[in-house]
Amino acid sequence: MNNFIFENATKVFFGQGCVKEYLSCLSSHYGKRVMLCYGGGSIKKNGIYEEVMRSLKEADKEVIEFAGIMANPTYAKVMEGAALAKEHKVDLILGVGGGSVMDCCKAISLAAAYDGDIWNDFWARPGIIDFEPVPLGVIVTVAGTGSEMNGGAVITNETLKVKTGRDYPKCNPAFALLDPTYTYSVPKFQMVSGGFDILSHIMETYFSEPDEDNVSDDISEALMRGVIRDLRAAIKNPEDYTARSNLMWESTMGENRIIKMGKRMDFECHQMEHQLGAYTDCNHGAGLAVLHPVYYRHIYKDGLAKFKRYAIYVWGVPAEGKTDEEIAFAGIKALEDFIVEIGLPVTLRELGVNETTDLKAIADSCNLAPGSYKKMTHEEILAIFKECF
Ligand code: NZQ
Ligand code: ZN
Repeated sequence: MNNFIFENATKVFFGQGCVKEYLSCLSSHYGKRVMLCYGGGSIKKNGIYEEVMRSLKEADKEVIEFAGIMANPTYAKVMEGAALAKEHKVDLILGVGGGSVMDCCKAISLAAAYDGDIWNDFWARPGIIDFEPVPLGVIVTVAGTGSEMNGGAVITNETLKVKTGRDYPKCNPAFALLDPTYTYSVPKFQMVSGGFDILSHIMETYFSEPDEDNVSDDISEALMRGVIRDLRAAIKNPEDYTARSNLMWESTMGENRIIKMGKRMDFECHQMEHQLGAYTDCNHGAGLAVLHPVYYRHIYKDGLAKFKRYAIYVWGVPAEGKTDEEIAFAGIKALEDFIVEIGLPVTLRELGVNETTDLKAIADSCNLAPGSYKKMTHEEILAIFKECF
């Protein structure tokens, strides 16, 4: 394995009833003013809002609400939230939602404690956070991004047409409450999109050096098999607690840095999807589903042994009578079949991309990740986009 430093400052409370049990006590460690942040209103329909408010009332908190955080949160929304946090001098930011709410809250917690230009200093290039962001706690309502246990905040700068984020340990939430029953109400499309995002995080980490036996890859294979099994079960029965709780923890495990230890990592597909998102506002997991199989057909020959291992250990592809290339190819086909099986799109057209979308501009704006088996060029990314179209 490569050398690494591991740190994770988030305290996780997991399981049915965890919000009722712990939120009031947890919030009592902070001052009186809590900024409660959420998205488009799903928490008001499924009862989560009432449960959270009850606990905050119990702890005698003054609640300042910040609603309407959109999917793919914008820099403008971050600045709006930061202004509100500053105006009310909030003591704790509490994000209730999925990756979009959590990411927006992390960025707000930074921006509210910083006088400079946070985009230039922390998103456009790596920065050093030598001050304390406003304390942040999160309550997860959909499994997918794993944002609850890392310091990444993926934000879209609409003016620059750039969607990006970096993992700053200082931005890890202080606490994360994960009640799998909160995800029962997630619509099927969003559930499978989140599920595919989990799979993608693990694959993007797995398909990178080092490839010799290592514990990170072994954990990743178990996690990938789990996501496939648990998604199938949750589609059959959305209230399958075992499946939902596994998915929730698989999501966290995909992005809490553990499986990344000792790996170079790639995340090229994420770079491509983020720029697609910056230009089209497409759904993150669905965008990844369209891109992955085509991208992998472009790179698998350069990482043949690993793609063969993936086919056999993740998808159970029988190896007998096949060449290594045929086995690897069958693994990618199994991934594509799974995408269709769970109801995610396989073309950019299905994502809402059309002839007027400037695929070249999107391809040219993608970062070229260093960790993959094959170094992409902007020309090859454009070729991938065109094949996906
Ligand atoms: O906004 P509301 O009304 O709450 O509805 C949301 C939203 O429409 C709905 N939803 C969430 N929980 C629900 C629910 N509906 C019913 N019942 C519930 N319990 O789901 C919709 C999508 O929510 P969103 O937060 O956008 O989804 P997701 O968790 O997939 O987050 C996507 C964002 O996270 C970023 C993505 O790029 C994207 O911007 N990512 C963050 C990462 C990180 N910080 O580590 C890593 C990822 O790779 C990713 O880039
Ligand atoms: Zn992702």
